[in-house]
Amino acid sequence: MTVKDIFDTMDYGTAPESATDALAWLVDQGDRFGHFIGGGFTLPGSGFEARNPATGDVLATLTQATQADVDHAVAAARRAQPRWEKLGGPGRARHLYALARMVQKHARLFAVLETMDNGKPIREARDIDIPLVHRHFYFHAGLAQLMDSEMPDRQALGVCGQIIPWNFPLLMLAWKIAPALAAGNTVVLKPAEQTSLTALLFADMCRQAGLPKGVVNIVTGDGTVGEMIVTHPGIDKIAFTGSTDVGRRIRQATAGSGKALTLELGGKSPYVVFDDADLDSAIEGLVDAIWFNQGQVCCAGSRLLVQEGVAARFHAKLRARMDRLRIGNPLDKSIDIGAMVSPEQRDRVRAMVDACEGGHVHHSAAALPDAGCFYPPTLITGLSTASPLMQEEIFGPVLVSTTFRTPAEAVDLANNTRYGLAASVWSENVNLALDIAPKLAAGVIWVNGTNMFDAAAPFGGMRESGFGREGGWEGLGAYTRPRGKTRALAQISPFEGKNGDAPTDPLDRTPKLYIGGKQTRPDGGYSRAVHAKSGRILGQVPVAARKDIRNAVEAARGASGWSATTGHLRAQILYYIAENLSARASEFAARLDVMQGGKGGKAEVEATIHRLFTYAAWADKYDGRIKGVPLRGVAMAMPAPVGVIGAICPDEAPLLGLVSLMAPAIAMGNRAVLVASEAFPLATTDFYQILDTSDVPGGVVNILTGNHADLAPTLAAHMDVDAVWCFSSTPLSEPVEAASAGNLKRTWVNDGMARDWMGTAGEGHIFLEQSTEIKTIWVPYGE
Ligand code: NAI
Repeated sequence: MTVKDIFDTMDYGTAPESATDALAWLVDQGDRFGHFIGGGFTLPGSGFEARNPATGDVLATLTQATQADVDHAVAAARRAQPRWEKLGGPGRARHLYALARMVQKHARLFAVLETMDNGKPIREARDIDIPLVHRHFYFHAGLAQLMDSEMPDRQALGVCGQIIPWNFPLLMLAWKIAPALAAGNTVVLKPAEQTSLTALLFADMCRQAGLPKGVVNIVTGDGTVGEMIVTHPGIDKIAFTGSTDVGRRIRQATAGSGKALTLELGGKSPYVVFDDADLDSAIEGLVDAIWFNQGQVCCAGSRLLVQEGVAARFHAKLRARMDRLRIGNPLDKSIDIGAMVSPEQRDRVRAMVDACEGGHVHHSAAALPDAGCFYPPTLITGLSTASPLMQEEIFGPVLVSTTFRTPAEAVDLANNTRYGLAASVWSENVNLALDIAPKLAAGVIWVNGTNMFDAAAPFGGMRESGFGREGGWEGLGAYTRPRGKTRALAQISPFEGKNGDAPTDPLDRTPKLYIGGKQTRPDGGYSRAVHAKSGRILGQVPVAARKDIRNAVEAARGASGWSATTGHLRAQILYYIAENLSARASEFAARLDVMQGGKGGKAEVEATIHRLFTYAAWADKYDGRIKGVPLRGVAMAMPAPVGVIGAICPDEAPLLGLVSLMAPAIAMGNRAVLVASEAFPLATTDFYQILDTSDVPGGVVNILTGNHADLAPTLAAHMDVDAVWCFSSTPLSEPVEAASAGNLKRTWVNDGMARDWMGTAGEGHIFLEQSTEIKTIWVPYGE
């Protein structure tokens, strides 16, 4: 190309980054890799090839882990864990700092190797992935340093199994390993089979940095190795990022195992452009939203919603922009679009687009390389909202678009998805943008921006995008558990009747269920007798059926206005409940005594009133945080209500236990469907009257009585329930967690362990965390 040609076309020349050092490192390792276990590499075994998707070249041979390899890695992690935790936060901080320095010093090598292994443009690996990786380790060195003083009641979980995808291989490793290590855990991590090389380079760096042996273990292989990790009894927590299908399988496989679980899954994130947006900025944002990493991004802005008045102009600008994107050799610093990760992924995307019925498909006019896994940037307009391409995650450089008229319609369309990972809102009107942002069902929302990430800002989804947050103090918390010993919970059975079941009370007040603010007969028409310890009959309680669960959930869904009330109002109502309970304290205490055959009723009622006061206090004080992200602007981590929470209440402390779950849930703006203590339900049925006289709007609290084992799976499986908690003394963690996999709702179960409801374990931060969903709202500002 001559200088004249360049002036005529204003085209970029090529500027390829050198692959020499990365290739030399591969040669140094013998081009064959074993696993990294107990501080060293194992001998390579039979396995599979790592290929460069842009060229098809084989880069190295990797080993497929066997069960024995996974056992070996878990054993190494287990051995290393106590000493690693005992190092203390500041001791661990030194090591995390050393890892951060290592990655930073070798940033170029990591970036080039990542690009060769994954196909992403070197500009992205160099300027985004790798800087975010060392930022993550520095940030978590800081969290480790502060953890002992800031989180004195928390301790490490133990050994964490971590399974990561291929789209951000080293970055996802950092997101997993840094918080786990900071909190005092050791890890067994499996990179994706398509992209394991930077994880192995990182392992080499761990060795060079003097990280204690066994703290980080890396095993390679495909999904079957992932399954071995997920089901391994020596692992205390699974952290997974990947597809929703696999996430759902992991939820089922870990059900009832007592393993902690966080899932970061797919998305179909809306990108909402209002007619007053800076359209040129919104176009550039869209390039980053859907063409960053060839669209292989879980939070890609893959669903464009543009306001009708500007839609034609916006689409025209967009087509012009996408036609000029440069597609080519990922190592070339002047290309925009690299290769997709594998032929399978490219073919999957192609098949989805080819199967598209209706709509207008526009492929970028830019030339594609002759060989390699490339797919052109694509825009599809004119699809109906129910079209599979509007609903399914494509995970490629394919944008679908539709229009809206009003802000309310924009919110409806944006939330018309089973996912809830991220969203972008574009408007120059700050009132509009900040009004819309919290209404979007997403864990991360960018105002006038997209795909902004930082170690300080929690990231994660809701709905079928998974649960748990990564980043910030919130992410660290997910790698810890409360300090102290646990005690097994014995099953509590109701007292048996003597002398038949004839009611002793001539005025038989058979209680009903409490649904939608009304006392309702159970659907099946069944009730059962409740007896005192002496065998004397105390009364009848209804036995709720599945239909009653469905009615209660519908009532709770309908009470969505509660989530929009102020904390102040919710506090007033909680105080009012406490006041009304206090007025009838002795009656409740007597009921509890006779029902449980003890003398603790008075103390339990007192503790219940105390608990109501506690959550009345918290209702307007569980604040969000402003995050110190390196950007002109703010990232706000705001606690939002989860939605409808279903809870199986404890059998011990039947009144206090129910209120200990109800009060934080409603204080934070949720609506609750509560299944009362199975053994001792009567005090809670008396509680309906307290709720009735305390201005609790109908549907905000719904209470059912009945058999826990029958009702829990129905509640856990219900698609309109957003979280399910189970504190029954009947062992139900397994069925509850397994049933929750349908819509991947959050779960909180007791795993057969007792909780001291009278003591400090019965209230506090953990209840508030479980009652809220952190939404991170990014608001950049300035010219
Ligand atoms: P995947 O979910 O199968 O793979 C992710 C990781 O999970 C890999 O390390 C894989 O080896 C492992 N894995 C697979 N099956 C497993 C199992 N049964 N138990 C434990 N671990 C298992 O994703 P895949 O097949 O590579 O991509 C398919 C689709 O998934 C993509 O088209 C995209 O829609 C979605 N995806 C979403 C990602 C995200 O970040 N949300 C990342 C990767 C893929």
